[in-house]
Order: sequence, then C-alpha cells, then structure tokens
Amino acid sequence: MVIMSTIENIPDRQGIFQGREIVVGVCGGIAAYKVADVVSKLVQSGAGVTVCMTAEAQRFITPLTLEALSGRAVRTQMFDLMDSSDPQHIGLTERADLLLVAPATAHNLAKAAHGMCDDLISLLICASACPVLFAPAMNNRMWENPITRQNVKKLRDAGHFFIGPEDGWLACRNVGPGRMSEPGTILEAVAGMLAERGPATTQNPSANPSAKIP
Ligand SMILES: Cc1cc2nc3c(=O)[nH]c(=O)nc-3n(C[C@H](O)[C@H](O)[C@H](O)COP(=O)(O)O)c2cc1C
Repeated sequence: MVIMSTIENIPDRQGIFQGREIVVGVCGGIAAYKVADVVSKLVQSGAGVTVCMTAEAQRFITPLTLEALSGRAVRTQMFDLMDSSDPQHIGLTERADLLLVAPATAHNLAKAAHGMCDDLISLLICASACPVLFAPAMNNRMWENPITRQNVKKLRDAGHFFIGPEDGWLACRNVGPGRMSEPGTILEAVAGMLAERGPATTQNPSANPSAKIP
C-alpha cells in the first residue's frame, strides 16, 4: 500500500507553504521522531521552520537532527541571552503564521490549558500571536483521562486547533486512541489553516534556510 504522505500528493496545496513561517514545538513523547519528517516536508515545501523543544523532547530526538532538517538553530531555552535580543523568544510567534505543537503531550496540554509557562513551548502557546495547532500523542488511557478531556475542551474553547490523535497502534503496545496523526495528515491540516489565513503577507527568508531568526 502506498501511503500518500508527501505534500506533492495533496491536491490544491502546492505553493501554500511558500513564504510562510512556522514554529514547531516538540514535546517529550515517542512520536517526536515523526516530527523530523514533518519539519523536513515543511522545509521542502518552502516554509521557514523554527523548531523549539522541551527538555523531555530532547530525550527522544536530538536538536541536531531538527537543526539539520530545518537549517536553523533549535530553541530549547527560554533565556538564551547570548544570541537573542528576545530572551523569552515570545517574538517567534509574532513572525509566524502558525505554531504547531507536535507531539503535544498530556503534560503540555495540561500546562497550556492552565496558562502555565514554565518551558519555552508552554510560554509560546500562552503568548501566541498566531493560531496554535496541537497534534497530540499519548497512551490511550492518558487521552481518555477525564482531566485530559477537560484540558482539550478548554484549549478548543480558547480557540486552539487540534489534528488527531487517531486510533491505532501505540508505542505502549496498546491499540486505541492516542496515536499522533501521520506527517501527511498533519501537513494537510497545516495547509488548510494557512489557506484560511490567506496569502503570506511577508516575505520570509525560507528560501535561505540559514537565515537568522532572533
Ligand atoms: C518512553 C516514554 C514515552 C512517553 N511517551 C509519551 C507520549 O507519547 N505522550 C505523552 O503525553 N507523554 C509521554 N511520556 C511522558 C512524558 O515524557 C512526560 O510527561 C514529560 O514530562 C513530558 O514533558 P513535556 O510535555 O515538557 O515535553 C513518555 C515517557 C516515557 C518515559
């Protein structure tokens, strides 16, 4: 079976990523490895991608991998005083068309739903100047936990967007809801949101992936 997961296979979406800025927030779940593919495909499609990672995300995938794929420095700290005039990096979402959180852990959803800001990604969500799209991934009992359900509802009610999770094989070897959507499905959701947002208003430096985003 051929899995239609490349952006070339998404009808009417070609060119939609050109000139767009996307911030990808990676949290600490097994599905973090799949986000490498999402980042690569976004960059191949013409988007400028800035990756941020939680401390736990770095246990699952290295910043080096995402730095190589995005062509940009990966942000892991709120207070990178050395190389930025915006130590908290809040400005990242002011220059972005979308903040994609993938995988969004139960922990991240809980923090975001309660306005907590003690890591770079939860801070960016709370301070976001652009739409936020969560791609959750977790054990089925975590996803079905009433507290997670409430957190998701709160985030939806606050105007945030979700893609997945889907039913299927989970890393914990259970089968059920909690599997992160496949990269092609996430790209389709991103493309749909960008299309709704209208044409890119600013020229971004995506053609030059080494361009510096402070
Ligand atoms: C092997 C392993 C896999 C995990 N996978 C997930 C997961 O898929 N989803 C999830 O919500 N938490 C998962 N966790 C728990 C998170 O890593 C943990 O809650 C962490 O604090 C999340 O931090 P973050 O949200 O700041 O990245 C996993 C933990 C381990 C040890």
